[in-house]
Amino acid sequence: MSNAPVDTGRRRFLTAATAVVGGAGAVAVAVPFIKSWNPSAKAKAAGAPVEVNISKVEPGQLIRVEWRGKPVWVVRRTDAVINELPTHDGKLRDPASVEMQQPDYATNPLRSIKPEYFIAVGICTHLGCSPTYLPDSFGEQVEGVTSGFFCPCHGSKFDMAGRVFQGVPAPLNLVIPPHQYVDDGTVIIGVDKGVA
Ligand code: FES
Repeated sequence: MSNAPVDTGRRRFLTAATAVVGGAGAVAVAVPFIKSWNPSAKAKAAGAPVEVNISKVEPGQLIRVEWRGKPVWVVRRTDAVINELPTHDGKLRDPASVEMQQPDYATNPLRSIKPEYFIAVGICTHLGCSPTYLPDSFGEQVEGVTSGFFCPCHGSKFDMAGRVFQGVPAPLNLVIPPHQYVDDGTVIIGVDKGVA
């Protein structure tokens, strides 16, 4: 057993210093919380809906826009792609999109409002990489499927309705964002009837 005298003066100092740091920490936490009630104009703009001109998107083409810091794809599907989609069901994890990864109005076999336009958040549902669009060579990934999206990070595969194939790490279909058509050539991403 040690006979060293207990330094009560030093212990008191440490206790006092800890209390002060604790108090400063409480203030630092409170400031961002209050700020969160007053988002900056930049933050508001980052969350704002995005209007997209789709009038020049060719059949088979994909365009990419940014919404809330995420890539959003607009793909114009060809008739051949649309006709092929129902033949994939037996190879998919959630062919009917039971796991609600889309708004109600996109809960249908094509996961879209208009058959020819597929709109999705271009982020893999595994760990967040952005899959690659393979318009013609997807058959190398899934036999008998012409077009789709392949995630280069761990090999997840999605069809042209963003539905995930079986046997890959991604657990869910791609997310369909809220969106609304203004006219035949314009769609707004991030807003729909009743959802802002
Ligand atoms: S992040 Fe896409 S497969 Fe892992």
